[in-house]
Amino acid sequence: MTSNTTVKIPKIFAPLLTTNKRYKLFYGGRAGGKSYAFADSLLLLGRMKKLRIACMREVQESIKDSVYKLLSDRINEYNLTDYNITATQIVNKVTGTTFIFKGLQEQYAENIKSLEGVDIVWLEEAQKISKKSWDILNPTIRKAGSEIWISMNREQENDPVWMAVGAHPDERTLVVKVNYNDNPFCPEEVKYLAQKCQKENPDDYEHIWLGAPASVGAYKLISYKSVRKAMETQWRKSTSMLIIGIDVARFGDDATVMCFRRGRVCLEFKTFKHLDNVAVANQATFFIRQYRPARVFIDAGGVGGGVVDILLDRGFKRVVRPVMFGGSAILDERYHNRRAEMWDELRQWLEDEGGAQLPKDEMLMAELCAVNKKYDSRGRLQLEEKAEIKSKLGRSPDMADALALTFAEPVYDIEGRDENDKTQNSLEGLFKVEKANTGW
Ligand SMILES: Nc1ncnc2c1ncn2[C@@H]1O[C@H](COP(=O)(O)OP(=O)(O)O)[C@@H](O)[C@H]1O
Ligand SMILES: [Mg+2]
Repeated sequence: MTSNTTVKIPKIFAPLLTTNKRYKLFYGGRAGGKSYAFADSLLLLGRMKKLRIACMREVQESIKDSVYKLLSDRINEYNLTDYNITATQIVNKVTGTTFIFKGLQEQYAENIKSLEGVDIVWLEEAQKISKKSWDILNPTIRKAGSEIWISMNREQENDPVWMAVGAHPDERTLVVKVNYNDNPFCPEEVKYLAQKCQKENPDDYEHIWLGAPASVGAYKLISYKSVRKAMETQWRKSTSMLIIGIDVARFGDDATVMCFRRGRVCLEFKTFKHLDNVAVANQATFFIRQYRPARVFIDAGGVGGGVVDILLDRGFKRVVRPVMFGGSAILDERYHNRRAEMWDELRQWLEDEGGAQLPKDEMLMAELCAVNKKYDSRGRLQLEEKAEIKSKLGRSPDMADALALTFAEPVYDIEGRDENDKTQNSLEGLFKVEKANTGW
C-alpha cells in the first residue's frame, strides 16, 4: 500500500491475523464488519507471503455473486497497486498470492483438486452452506497449516456449518460473535435501522442484528424479547423463598444442573459434570442444610429417581419433590404433560408485568428460545420432543430444564420468614465469592 495508508481492521477481528487456528468462525448480525475485515485481513496476508486463497460460497452463478467485488473495492480504496485484478482472479504481483472464487455446488461437478493447494478458504454467508458441501470441502483443504475462515449470520439453530464448527468448538477452533455495535465503522444510517428494529420488532432484532437463529414465530414458546429483558434486569436481592430445581444428567456426558430461584429472581445455575447419584445427592444435601430452600424439585425420570430416593432416605421429605417430566400435568386438561406445564409457567414468569431477572448467559438464552410448542389431539399445549431440541442445540437444554423445574408446583410462603435471617441471604454471598474467585 502507499506509505500513508493504514488498513483499519476492528480490534475484534485481530485473531484473524494473530492466531493460528484451523477454523476461524465469526458470526453475528448484519453489519458487524465481517466481510470488510475478512477482505482486508486476507489482502494484508497476501502481501506478506505467497498464498492461495479460495473465496467460496454455496452457490456462485457468476463472479459477481462473490466477494470479488468487495476485494476489488478494498484494493482501490487503499490503492494497493501491487494487486492485479483480472476477470476471474486477483493476483499479487510481488508475492504471487492468488485469490480464486468458487461456488461449492458448482465444485462437486468440477475437479475439486483445484482446491488442494489452498492455504486459506473464506466461506462467506456460511449459513447457506449445506452439509454435503461442508463434508466434501473440509477434508479437501488438507495442506499443512491451512485455515478455513467462516463468516456467517445464523439462519436456524442447526445450520450445518454451525453444527460442525461453531456448536462445540475445540482448541483448533476460534468462534467469535460480532454485531454492528462491535463495528466501529458501522454507518449511522445502519445503526438507526437497527435501533428502529429493536423498538418495533424485538424478535426480528435478535435475528437480523444480534445474530440469533431465526425464531420460528408463532411456534416458539419463549420469545427472545422476554429473555433479553430478564437478562438486562438487575434489581435486587429477593427475600422470597428459595426454590431449587435439579436436572439430573441422564448420560455420562450430560451435566447435572441446579437452578436457584427466589421469586422473581433467578439467582444462578450450578453445573456438575460426571457426578454419580450419591454425589449429586450430597451436593443437594449441602444446599438444603446450608440455605434451607422451601422446595427442591428434582427431575425423577431416569437416574434422577435414585437421587430423590437418597434424599428422602436422609429425611428431607418436607422439601424434596420428585417431578416426572412425562407425567400428567397438574392442569391435565390444559397441558400434555408436566414438562409442558412447567415450561409454560416459566414463560408466564418471564412475561409477567412484575418483571423477572435471569443471569446473563448466551447458552441459557439459546436453550430457552430453542423450544417450539405444538398442540396435542386434545388441544393441550405440548413441547416438541427432547431429541428435536437436542439436535437443534447440539446439547440438551439442561439449564432451561432446571429453571423450569423450579416452577413444578406452586409453593406458598406460609411460614413467614425473617428478612434479616443471615442464612437466607448468604447464598447470594456464596455465589459472589465463587464468581470472584473462579470466574464461574
Ligand atoms: N474497515 C472498514 N472501513 C470502513 N468501513 C467499514 C469497515 N468495516 C466495515 N465498514 C462499514 O460497515 C458496514 C458493514 O460491514 P460488513 O463487513 O458488510 O458487515 P457484515 O459482513 O458483518 O454484515 C460496511 O458496509 C461499511 O460501511
Ligand atoms: Mg457480510
